[in-house]
Amino acid sequence: MAKRTAKKTALKVVKKTPAKKASAPKASVAVARGTPLVEMKDISIAFGGIKAVDHASIDLYPGEVVGLLGHNGAGKSTLIKILSGAYKRDVGQIFVDGKEISITNPRDAKANGIETIYQTLALADNVDAAGNLYLGRELKTRLGTLDDVAMEDATRKVMFKLNPNFRRFKEPVSKLSGGQRQSVAIARAIHFNARILIMDEPTAALGPQETAQVGELIKQLKAEGIGIFLISHDLHDVFDLADRLVVMKNGKVVGTAYTKDVTHDEVLGMIIAGKCPKGAIPGPGALRDAA
Ligand SMILES: Nc1ncnc2c1ncn2[C@@H]1O[C@H](COP(=O)(O)OP(=O)(O)OP(=O)(O)O)[C@@H](O)[C@H]1O
Ligand SMILES: [Mg+2]
Repeated sequence: MAKRTAKKTALKVVKKTPAKKASAPKASVAVARGTPLVEMKDISIAFGGIKAVDHASIDLYPGEVVGLLGHNGAGKSTLIKILSGAYKRDVGQIFVDGKEISITNPRDAKANGIETIYQTLALADNVDAAGNLYLGRELKTRLGTLDDVAMEDATRKVMFKLNPNFRRFKEPVSKLSGGQRQSVAIARAIHFNARILIMDEPTAALGPQETAQVGELIKQLKAEGIGIFLISHDLHDVFDLADRLVVMKNGKVVGTAYTKDVTHDEVLGMIIAGKCPKGAIPGPGALRDAA
């Protein structure tokens, strides 16, 4: 339900950015920038007869936000679940810092600094922020009891960086607002040295003010050199936060572009019709001979 609303909003705001002239000079999208933080190469996975992801390649650089766009069922979540270790790919390779790595479960992903924040957040509602941060990785005192003081202290430090106004350390997270819960989920992800953060629809269930708060968090993480894959139905969010975007359709990548090189209308054309505009690099899912 929330997703549908978000999608409608995205379609409504399309006209907000004036369409650029097709003839305007565009920066090259193929700028060499060294080794990507993460690269997924030629990834495929099928469920029964359905090719959920079909020879998809995406990459991400340090301090970069890459938006993943596409209709329902395009394969966005499946592709990032392969990176987070929830699904095992049928074919393809994954590289971190240029080295091929093996990800067959979520532990492998975490060991490589890859953390995922799902839309549902997966927080333990009846415990506080510190309890959530250290869930399953609790700190113990020398006597073997839970070291609540150390855990709260560390939680205050990381939360202060993300959300300096946050004071509700003693309350269960069920009492927090959507934006505050989102910051607890992000704190948990980055506290254990995430370098690659995957956010699947982080603002779909949030109001405008909380969406803005999450946007601020994303900008802060970016400034620290963390790379973020941002899945969103909201074009406005993606244009606001992402450096680049990747559009998927029927499991295939339609194209990749710097957000500054494409207009909202062009991106809609990629999502709906698979048309790859001039400012984007076409992928295997691009319509042939589309201008
Ligand atoms: N575990 C599964 N078993 C069978 N089919 C699946 C499974 N997970 C995904 N699929 C199928 O794979 C395709 C891609 O789904 P996916 O959830 O990745 O799309 P999405 O782009 O994330 O869509 P949405 O915007 O609705 O979240 C769909 O056809 C979906 O039904
Ligand atoms: Mg999805």
